[in-house]
Amino acid sequence: MLRVTYLSRESDPLTAKALVDLLEQCKHNNPTLGVTGMLIYANGTFLQTLEGETNTVENLLGKIERDSRHRDFQVIKSEAATEKLYENWSMGFERLTEATLHDMPALKSFQLEDFNPEYLSAHPTVVENLLQRHRSQHWDPLIREIDARDQFIGELRRALVNTRQRNEQALLLMESVIEASAEGKLTDVHLQLCRRMVETLRRR
Ligand SMILES: Cc1cc2nc3c(=O)[nH]c(=O)nc-3n(C[C@H](O)[C@H](O)[C@H](O)COP(=O)(O)O)c2cc1C
Repeated sequence: MLRVTYLSRESDPLTAKALVDLLEQCKHNNPTLGVTGMLIYANGTFLQTLEGETNTVENLLGKIERDSRHRDFQVIKSEAATEKLYENWSMGFERLTEATLHDMPALKSFQLEDFNPEYLSAHPTVVENLLQRHRSQHWDPLIREIDARDQFIGELRRALVNTRQRNEQALLLMESVIEASAEGKLTDVHLQLCRRMVETLRRR
């Protein structure tokens, strides 16, 4: 298995709808490919980690690198993997905000404007901290032990992460509907996405 992390910059500012489309593409393709990972976005910068079978990840990365929606693609980490660190996510997604950073004591001196390829490629520890929060199993062996001993906290933690993830996606969808509506471009696709989101939110 292979795990690769890369940075890139959006080619043109992406609308909320364009981000929803991108995530839909990931959610459609990645389960079939057996690929999991995390995509973090802010300031027009993408930070993505992908993991899965080596050939599959390499092929997908080739496609992603050629995608015209972004540029300045640079792999910052590539490692052989023995286990999946993001097994809960066909592609987890987070839009980084001042509020999320505020809740991350490990990143005290990191500012939102630092979320750019120059800063991130020079600060691997920051990248690690940003991604680490989304891993299904914490990197710290002591925390793993605590999680193992205390199933209840573990379940609660997963539920919270799931809820935040769904909120993030529902928010993005609502923004895209508002955007389309303001432009008089609401379509059946928006309706379908909303129906699917309602089903997802109802599922516990
Ligand atoms: C920042 C970024 C991240 C992407 N991540 C994925 C991904 O995880 N999985 C995926 O299938 N496509 C991803 N894509 C889209 C691919 O570049 C490509 O458009 C897609 O794999 C083609 O899928 P198709 O062959 O089903 O049309 C990403 C694109 C961008 C710009």
